[in-house]
Amino acid sequence: MKFFIDSANIDEIREAASLGILDGVTTNPSLVAKEGKNFRQLLDQILEIVDGPVSAEVVSTDADGIKKEARELAAIHENIVVKVPLIREGLKAVRTLTDEGIRTNVTLCFSPTQALLAAKAGATYVSPFIGRLDDVSQDGMELIEQIVTIYSNYDYRTEVLAASIRHPLHVLQAAMIGADVATIPFKIINQMFKHPLTERGLEQFLDDWKNNEAKLV
Ligand code: E4P
Repeated sequence: MKFFIDSANIDEIREAASLGILDGVTTNPSLVAKEGKNFRQLLDQILEIVDGPVSAEVVSTDADGIKKEARELAAIHENIVVKVPLIREGLKAVRTLTDEGIRTNVTLCFSPTQALLAAKAGATYVSPFIGRLDDVSQDGMELIEQIVTIYSNYDYRTEVLAASIRHPLHVLQAAMIGADVATIPFKIINQMFKHPLTERGLEQFLDDWKNNEAKLV
């Protein structure tokens, strides 16, 4: 499973990259707005830190506008993946962009039939939003399962990118189902390291070592 960080915060991205477990980055307009910085400068900084796919989202909602923005974003760097909303105009644009060799991440996916359309349009990634479905009492993980099954039935090459992850259990369940990628907020990456038995066990080892006055060499 590939791990992306779902963030536009440079400190978080730098720290996550230093852990050696990071394959890419996803941003969205809300995450970028939170940083209060120029989008282009932010992207340049992210691209310097992470050598992997970096999703940058368009804000146009008509196919021509989406294509124009997508071409501009893709021209910035070969690692840019253009994030396109899962709407009719978005998928129209995705077909053209795919034919032009521009990689896309179709975002705001909330149903298996939407995901099927994204694959038909040739999307590189589809992003089903688990947490936002859970928020409205719909099982987000069931959606991941349905998409993974459909894509495997027909050998679609579109990768399933589990998004809107709210806790480590989401990552675990998405991994068990076989999602290709999880895009994870920084806070949850940190939570994934933690286990009380690891902490207690290490404390005990270090105490015993000290009490025994053992030497390494
Ligand atoms: C996906 O790429 C989105 O940026 C993200 O996962 C949305 O998550 P949220 O529901 O926590 O905003």
